[in-house]
Amino acid sequence: MSARPNVLAIDGPAAAGKGTLARRLAAALHLPYLDTGLLYRAVARRLLDAGADAGDPVAAEAQARALTTADLDAPNLRTPQIDRAAAAVASLPLVRAALLAFQRDFATAHGAVLDGRDIGTIIFPDARAKLFVTASVDARARRRWLELQQRGVVAAFDTVRDDMQARDAADASRAAAPLRPAPDAILIDTTALDADQAFAAAIAHLAALGWYADANENR
Ligand code: C5P
Repeated sequence: MSARPNVLAIDGPAAAGKGTLARRLAAALHLPYLDTGLLYRAVARRLLDAGADAGDPVAAEAQARALTTADLDAPNLRTPQIDRAAAAVASLPLVRAALLAFQRDFATAHGAVLDGRDIGTIIFPDARAKLFVTASVDARARRRWLELQQRGVVAAFDTVRDDMQARDAADASRAAAPLRPAPDAILIDTTALDADQAFAAAIAHLAALGWYADANENR
């Protein structure tokens, strides 16, 4: 057994395939899964619903402190408007501080798989394993555009790509918990990988750490 918390940290930019991979790995490791992007999206939703500005630090911190798990089930957390507002609230240090305990508590009882931007660097720097999942901006924009199309949201590809690049730049350049790989993260580039290949690459890494066998030996 490892002394490190049973946490798998998965970070990376938007639409790199983190969510799909994280869900499958959580099932394989028999661990709960938290999409931490949803926390920032739900804070943004609460803020806009309250008529406040997404850049208002005082209102945003109050909404972050009032966040409940029920807020994560709110409809319309994945609209382009919430994409932008979530990136704005995520740049506020008071919001990030307010959401820290929520994320750590989630993993306390059983460990967890968490995906986001700062899981391996700030939330769980001592995670048992860390992945940094990325892909070219064109590949990611195409995936997001197809996802929007499937949901019936009409958007021009160039707009989706430009919005994504703007969000990536904001996430990577902000002072509070910027998006960057932890020094001990394993990089998985999904540009040319499908979901099964990305899963296989991640499992190979966990198997090398002995974790995958641990999780399944008594089942
Ligand atoms: O992953 P997702 O696109 O749903 O995240 C929404 C926004 O929340 C991101 O653009 C990013 O600014 C922010 N975020 C963050 N830290 C995390 C997860 C998401 O700053 N751990």
